[in-house]
Amino acid sequence: MENLDEIVCTCLGVTGKMIKDAVDAGAGTVEEVQDATGAGTICGSCLDEVSRLVDIFVSERSK
Ligand code: FES
Repeated sequence: MENLDEIVCTCLGVTGKMIKDAVDAGAGTVEEVQDATGAGTICGSCLDEVSRLVDIFVSERSK
């Protein structure tokens, strides 16, 4: 399983856990997670990973 303490977005120090929390709080897209956490809004190099995690957490939430 993912290491949720790992920093996904180094620009802003956003961890996997913070992304999961945003999804659990209702964010369902990368854009909504960006609004909630700021992840991916500076250099954008983490966006692929943010997108991958959002997909995972959304599918887990709906179980
Ligand atoms: S590492 Fe996420 S915006 Fe730069």
